[in-house]
Amino acid sequence: MAAFRASTRLSLETILSRTRCPTPNHSLRQSRNFGTLPASRTPRRAFHTPPKAKPPPPKPKTARVAAPLTAAGAGLLGLCTLSLWRTETNKSQSHPSNPPPPATTDTRDPSLPRFRLHDIRLHDAASGEPWVTHEDKVYNITDWVAAHPGGDVILRAAGGSVDPYWDIFTIHKSPHVYEILGQYLIGFVDAADLVDGRPAREEVEDPFEDDPVRDPRLITHTAKPRNAEPPNEELDRGFLTENEVFYVRNHMWVPKVAEGEEAEEGHVLTVELPGGETAEYTLRDLRTRFKVHRVTAVLQCSGNRRNDMTRHAGKTNGLQWGVGAISNAEWEGVRLADVLADAGLRVAGPAVLTRATTEDGAADDDNDDPNTITDPSAHHVQFSGLEAYGASIPLPTALDPRGDVLLAFGMNGKPLPRDHGFPLRSVIPGHVAARSVKWLSKIVVADEESPSQWQRRDYKSFGPNEGANPDWEKAKAIQEMPVTSAITRVWVGDGVRRGEVPWLNGGKQGGRGGEGKGVVDIAAVEQKVGFTSKPTRPVTSEEEGSTATATTSPVALQGYAYSGGGREISRVDVSLDGGRTWDQADLVDDWNQTHAKGSKHWAWKRWRYVGQLPELHSLPVSPDRGNEKKHCTELVVKATDDAYNTQPGDHKAIYNVRGNLATAWHRVKVCQRCVRGDEDGRGKGVSWETAQTYGCGFEREAGEVREHMIKSDAK
Ligand code: MTE
Repeated sequence: MAAFRASTRLSLETILSRTRCPTPNHSLRQSRNFGTLPASRTPRRAFHTPPKAKPPPPKPKTARVAAPLTAAGAGLLGLCTLSLWRTETNKSQSHPSNPPPPATTDTRDPSLPRFRLHDIRLHDAASGEPWVTHEDKVYNITDWVAAHPGGDVILRAAGGSVDPYWDIFTIHKSPHVYEILGQYLIGFVDAADLVDGRPAREEVEDPFEDDPVRDPRLITHTAKPRNAEPPNEELDRGFLTENEVFYVRNHMWVPKVAEGEEAEEGHVLTVELPGGETAEYTLRDLRTRFKVHRVTAVLQCSGNRRNDMTRHAGKTNGLQWGVGAISNAEWEGVRLADVLADAGLRVAGPAVLTRATTEDGAADDDNDDPNTITDPSAHHVQFSGLEAYGASIPLPTALDPRGDVLLAFGMNGKPLPRDHGFPLRSVIPGHVAARSVKWLSKIVVADEESPSQWQRRDYKSFGPNEGANPDWEKAKAIQEMPVTSAITRVWVGDGVRRGEVPWLNGGKQGGRGGEGKGVVDIAAVEQKVGFTSKPTRPVTSEEEGSTATATTSPVALQGYAYSGGGREISRVDVSLDGGRTWDQADLVDDWNQTHAKGSKHWAWKRWRYVGQLPELHSLPVSPDRGNEKKHCTELVVKATDDAYNTQPGDHKAIYNVRGNLATAWHRVKVCQRCVRGDEDGRGKGVSWETAQTYGCGFEREAGEVREHMIKSDAK
């Protein structure tokens, strides 16, 4: 039986989400939402249990300063739900009836008070004055929670230590986060409760234990949480990126939910309207009660190509993605607008969805039903995932009949993989993928954006001058994406002649369909570069010789171009000499050939280019970074969409400390040695992938990039 229920009461969760402190029951219910914790993982302590008769919390001596809300404040939110699994190992130590331990020398600031652990525990989430400890220090986070829209998340650590969480969410071990916490310092843990200067550690089970097994082809940036991008040869090998190598961007663990038939009835989506009414839909309800649609759309992280911005413009915070934090898939699901209408949402005024009308059929703009919205632009659709992630989109985006916003349960003809949101996610075509919320469990139509850090404190961009502490309040949340492009593979010299390029005439790698074969006009290529690609034929000595003369070094490039908002890519320009001269790439007509679906151009355009490298030996020598002097050129790509938006030339002009929207021309260096080979003939006719290297001949720099990735993982 369908589990759809509509009610006119405010849901308990709504009331709770509108108050500062969640109750223990609330947290327990959320923990069940994480799904199937096996019996052995039954929460050992769901929340710090409030005592029966709670004494008034000890008053700190110092005044607290409300912290300015900064980006780094977001880091505190990594605390999430782990307290559900926390076990105390130091109970006996802190129990007041225990004999006091031998006196130790306490050299810490004597002007601040000392607190016993059993007193700190009283300041749990339900206390009204939550405290946390970090190392041997005690912080009163009451003001922080009050000031921060997502503050209830940190409450999950209240009454205990934040350290075990930060051991897992290492990304939060940053000076910014400590700086914010420092403003709430009220004292120290009493020396009687310290072992080697620290309270005894609390145990935290690994929440990533149940994460799915990943495809080994993925290039991993961080393992826990998993963040990975496909190697380029997989990324745009076909028009659709295979599910197994589709980039993965997780902020936390992958929630474990029932599979198969159980998921059909077991996973419930709650939809809450502005008046507070809720409606619930099982997965089966969604499949059977609404028309199912398919939409071909790119998902792209706002951090795609961040390592480009770092290398060309300066230090950025965040995962140092190459060109692969983007992938393209065909999504299957139901329209969000249909579900909202079914749940009871009405829009008055210009008919967008369902026009509220009076009995005689006229528009009823005076309707005072709170679920009849007169100004959709003043509203937002907030999405929440099972593991605590949240984001929102403006209501008009959700209602746009040509916007194709889906609640998706299928990806490339298969059920959503766990990493990509099984059993349900939102897919917002043309928008930053941060709004396509995975493991979707709740939708709220509200008059404000999602309170989550990922809406308010992240996924925004700033002026190049705004530095490390930009004004997060002022900046708008990223929604539609700007135009971008990237070179994903390059072949030079004999690699091209020998037929290494799969999409050139007779390419020996064949191709699993979809490689864009036939897109390039071979006759024109022959004329331009003076050769015919023949895969089976050995390179003749004459050609061998000619490879070494830079004037006849062919080069082949491929890549992708994409613009947000459904704007079609209309042109891709390629330069082989660092942007001095330009030519146009061939665009693969995947959209028509694969019968891609959607009201607008939500997918990427793949492109191909064959040309002739400039005479490298005549070019200026590249800055000498190693022992070797290099004659190099820069291969460059830029794209233009059908609104004539085009990419900026330089990352410096769009630099922002978060490294978001790194859309400047994509440049890849090619050095003489790559074309001509060194004395041993190495490097001749090479091909390479730009996610892994700087360009041909730049192994050392590529190593530095990799090292940087490892360092950011360790943070
Ligand atoms: N949804 C949930 N529940 N949790 C997340 O961590 N990450 C967001 C978005 N939705 C995220 C989420 C971000 S930042 C991106 S870029 C996309 O999911 C990545 O989607 P993918 O992993 O399917 O490629």
